[in-house]
Amino acid sequence: MPKSLISIHDFSKEEILHILDIASEMEKNKSQKILDGKVVACLFFEPSTRTRLSFETAANRLGARVIGFSDVGNTSISKGESFKDTIKMVSNYVDMIIMRHPLEGAARYATEVCDLPIVNAGDGANQHPSQTLLDLYTIRQTQGSLQNMTINMVGDLKYGRTVHSLLQAMSHFEPKFIFTAPYELQLPSEYQTFLTEKGIEYTETQSLTEYLDVCDILYMTRVQQERFNDPMEYEKVKDVYRLNAKMLTNVRKNMKILHPLPRINEIALDVDDTPYAYYFKQAENGMYVRMAIIAYLLGYN
Ligand code: CP
Repeated sequence: MPKSLISIHDFSKEEILHILDIASEMEKNKSQKILDGKVVACLFFEPSTRTRLSFETAANRLGARVIGFSDVGNTSISKGESFKDTIKMVSNYVDMIIMRHPLEGAARYATEVCDLPIVNAGDGANQHPSQTLLDLYTIRQTQGSLQNMTINMVGDLKYGRTVHSLLQAMSHFEPKFIFTAPYELQLPSEYQTFLTEKGIEYTETQSLTEYLDVCDILYMTRVQQERFNDPMEYEKVKDVYRLNAKMLTNVRKNMKILHPLPRINEIALDVDDTPYAYYFKQAENGMYVRMAIIAYLLGYN
C-alpha cells in the first residue's frame, strides 16, 4: 500500500522534520517541475479556501496537473453515487487523491478502496494533518526550533481538528500547553489522556488574558459552527473570545499569533498591525508545506 497522510501519526518525528526541510527548499525555489506528467485529484466534499487552493497551487508549481471538485452538487454524488464508487472511479484517473470530507474516518476509508496515496485535507472534527505540518513549519520558522515551546491554544478545542492534530505532533518536542476554552468547548478527554500518557504538562483556563504573557505561540481558533447540532449552543459561545491589540502589552517579544483561518471575530483587525500577527504568513507557508507533502508522497526525497 502506498504511503498516505491521514493522521499526523502516519509520519514519524524524523519524517515530519524531513517534510519541513523539503518545505524550506520549496520556499526558496517556488516552482520546480519535478512532477511533470503526474495528475493529482482534489476532492472537496466540504468548503475550503486555503487548503484546496494551496494544494492546487502546490501541485501546479511542481508541474503536476490537477482535477477535482469543490462542490459535490456538481458531481454524480448528487444522483446517489456512493463515496466508495467515487473514490474508485477517480483513482483510475490520477496519481494521488487529496480529499476533505465532513465525516471522521472518510480519508482512512479511501485508503481501503484504492491503491493511491491519499492526503486527508480534513475529516470532520478529527484530523487536519497538512495544516499541522504547516503549523509546525511556521512555529520553527518563527522560534528557530520546535523544542520546549509553550503553546496557548484558544477557542474551540472540542471541534477544532487543527488543535487535535497539532497537539499530537508537538508531543515529539517536549511542549507545555495552555488550553483556553469555555466549558462547552474544552479539549476532549481522549486528547487529555494522550498528553497525560506522554507526560506533557498542560493547564486549562477559561480566561483569554490569564496566560497571554507566558506563551511563545498563541494559537487562536474559530468556533466551528458547522459541527454544532443545536444552533442555540453555537450562539452561546460563538463570540466567547476576541483578542485585540491592547491585550498584547505584556507578551513575550518572540510570541507569535497563529490561526488556521478563516477567522470570524476572535482576532480584532488591530492585531494584524502588531509584530505578533503571523497568520497570513502561516497561510502562505501552507503552499510550501503542501508542495513538500505532495512531492514526498509521490516519491521525491
Ligand atoms: N485552515 C483551513 O483549513 O482553511 P480552509 O477551510 O479555508 O481550507
